[in-house]
Amino acid sequence: MRQPFVAVLVLQCLVLTRFPVSHIMDFHKYSFIGALRYLCDIMAEQMHPSFMNVIKQKERIRGKMAGVKHRIGVYSAKGGVGKTTVSVNLAYTLAGSGRRVGLLDADIDCPNISMFLGISERMDTSSLPLKPIVKNGIKVASTAMLVDDEKRPIIWRGPMVAKMIADFFENTEWGELDYLIIDLSPGTSDSPLSLMQLLDLDGILIVTTPQRIAGINSLRSGLMAKRMNVPILGVVENMSSGQISESTKDLISRLDTVLLGTVAMNSAHNAASDSGRPSVLSDKKSKEEFLSISERILG
Ligand SMILES: Nc1ncnc2c1ncn2[C@@H]1O[C@H](COP(=O)(O)OP(=O)(O)OP(=O)(O)O)[C@@H](O)[C@H]1O
Ligand SMILES: [Mg+2]
Repeated sequence: MRQPFVAVLVLQCLVLTRFPVSHIMDFHKYSFIGALRYLCDIMAEQMHPSFMNVIKQKERIRGKMAGVKHRIGVYSAKGGVGKTTVSVNLAYTLAGSGRRVGLLDADIDCPNISMFLGISERMDTSSLPLKPIVKNGIKVASTAMLVDDEKRPIIWRGPMVAKMIADFFENTEWGELDYLIIDLSPGTSDSPLSLMQLLDLDGILIVTTPQRIAGINSLRSGLMAKRMNVPILGVVENMSSGQISESTKDLISRLDTVLLGTVAMNSAHNAASDSGRPSVLSDKKSKEEFLSISERILG
């Protein structure tokens, strides 16, 4: 009963994929199910090469990050809401509680982490794998560390963004880490999309601000993450008055997630980003806020 079905399937595949006849000789090695799988793989590869490339890249990146226990993305709908501020302070807080932490600046357009941490070194690109720069015990890698002048704009078109991101991730060696905090590009376009496709994120935290417009945009980003099957760990309201805004409450309920904490409007953050020393190192209020956020993340 099976032979006619298999014969039809094989013929269909030969037509659809212009399958090289020499490969038919390999079929005897496969069971019925194996042969079906083999044919499906080839069809998928022939018909959706870009899809298969993403899957293969994802596997290679997963291999490179095999020693990383938790990968957490810090994401927002738009720029300037405090992703980098939250990323660096969260990384320092987790490291302060004894975790092995890495910080990946994956914001392709505005990679600011080097400046926030006062790092002027460049990653050595003369040989692979690329090694993150270690600052205060935290392994840090940024696309800005690959270029001569970090203030020069990095202008990448869509396909180049995906390729650049994939190459960077594939070639960076993180070793053993408990947490890798990833400062993602804002928005719902190419960069965050490629990042979410390629990085096997355990979850993202969404940074928003109290304004209604921020809530609306954050909802868009959160829904995109959900569509990409990236778990949302929760929301951080930055530049907060301390009392969580109606807009953030609405965002949390619509995304069916939780509040991880609030970060108050605090001039210590501005001073910190300019001086290259995260605020949790010197500001008591900031330290308490990030301790509380990290405790919620640690569970
Ligand atoms: N809670 C806060 N109180 C005061 N200033 C803040 C606060 N959070 C962030 N800032 C300041 O706002 C500016 C933007 O913050 P940050 O760079 O972290 O945002 P971002 O979302 O990473 O921006 P981009 O999308 O451009 O990368 C910085 O100068 C930072 O110091
Ligand atoms: Mg930033």
